[in-house]
Amino acid sequence: MNVPVAKGTISTEHLQQFRSIVGDSFVLVDEESLQRYGHDETEQLSFPPEVVIKPRTADEISAIMKICNRDLIPVTPRGAGTGLSGGALPHLGGVLLSTERMNQILQIDERNLQVTTEPGVITEVLQNAVKEKGLFYPPDPSSRGSCFIGGNIAENSGGPKAVKYGVVKDYVLNLELVLPNGDIIWTGANVLKNSTGYNLTQLVVGSEGTLGIVTKIVLRLIPFPKYDLLMLVPFASLEKASEAVSAIFRAGFVPSALELVEIDALKIVSKMVDSSAVPVNDDIAAHLIIEVDGNNMDVLMQDMESIATLLNDFEAGEVFFADDAQQKAELWKLRRRAAEAVKASGYTIEEDTVVPRAELPALIKGVKALGKQYGFQAVCYGHAGDGNLHIRINHPTIKNSHGNAEMTTALRALFELVHELGGTISGEHGIGLIQKPYLSTVFRAANLQLMQQIKKAFDPNNILNAGKIFDLN
Ligand code: LAC
Ligand code: ZN
Repeated sequence: MNVPVAKGTISTEHLQQFRSIVGDSFVLVDEESLQRYGHDETEQLSFPPEVVIKPRTADEISAIMKICNRDLIPVTPRGAGTGLSGGALPHLGGVLLSTERMNQILQIDERNLQVTTEPGVITEVLQNAVKEKGLFYPPDPSSRGSCFIGGNIAENSGGPKAVKYGVVKDYVLNLELVLPNGDIIWTGANVLKNSTGYNLTQLVVGSEGTLGIVTKIVLRLIPFPKYDLLMLVPFASLEKASEAVSAIFRAGFVPSALELVEIDALKIVSKMVDSSAVPVNDDIAAHLIIEVDGNNMDVLMQDMESIATLLNDFEAGEVFFADDAQQKAELWKLRRRAAEAVKASGYTIEEDTVVPRAELPALIKGVKALGKQYGFQAVCYGHAGDGNLHIRINHPTIKNSHGNAEMTTALRALFELVHELGGTISGEHGIGLIQKPYLSTVFRAANLQLMQQIKKAFDPNNILNAGKIFDLN
């Protein structure tokens, strides 16, 4: 592995300087903090940093970055630590820079349907704040109750609503960014159209904290739809469930969510949250969760009925309509907590594959075959409407894919299949630390070289989240 990275060590003097910038209480070197900030939700990995710093402002971050850039100290930015590809893991030690104190929503601009926020605001808090004004910020990762909006920008997150409303990139208008050398810039303008130079805003979205540290975010909003309807549809065959997904769109419907959950995942999560809301009998292989939303209830009812009728062609079982807000919340809880539940039950390795929607059945079939070949159990769930399938792997002995040759071989085979099907490695969780070995299955050397050159232009000393997405050479 070739990661020419920052090599400086953190001295007592550095700690003094950091304290004078952010205040004594926000520079942590105690063992408990270093352990706590040494992991996120990725596999079972842990890389404690040397110091945790919690700045409050862009100016403070700028001052910290100037020191780190001068003395070649690695810096890893971190939001809430809910990431699944290791983007926030301080695998080189150094400074862990947490945005948790930058947690203010700065302005909800109702005239222009925009919100300006700091990065450390919990996504659901932001969604609720704009909803009070009748506005909607749709991207809603499963972890929305704990993840930060800044982390969502870093990963270009999606979630269930993406199928109708798009992902984070579709809402970001402008970003304040602290560059690795400490300069502070705005990447664009607070406008809905922009053909002014390279699109730095969209380059930063999804760049996983490798190009700069986002300190303010301007998002566009839309009016909140008045109504939604939710149904749960069981299928006796996983293949039929996944075939039904593309048929729904071909028939002219655009659900506001179209999720697939394999029965094993549902069994595990139902047990964890102690819910009997969904039947989990032996005839069922998978469920589709289908939501429609809009402002005309009659249209929504008609759409739901037509979709349910269409699903009969795919041997769907009896449809369950969620009648009230409580039933809807219960269903969404089961879906949203799937990742956490299956991880806790041994499925520690997680993949975030995405294929063109109609290729889902082929992907699922291939995943099961690979499980047999490489000796692991796989359980699938995810954003089927987007062709974005989360695959959780339970191997009897291998619990981390990172640094494991046997699992790396198996995953390479998975991603080669994904690539053959016209898909790619990650739909919404990013590459971070653990998906680096597979980039060559989907990119040519020229793609990688271009990305590495971009990284060098932003961060010539390779101090900011170095060794994430790719190694430099
Ligand atoms: C989900 C997260 C893991 O869809 O992306 O549950
Ligand atoms: Zn997801």
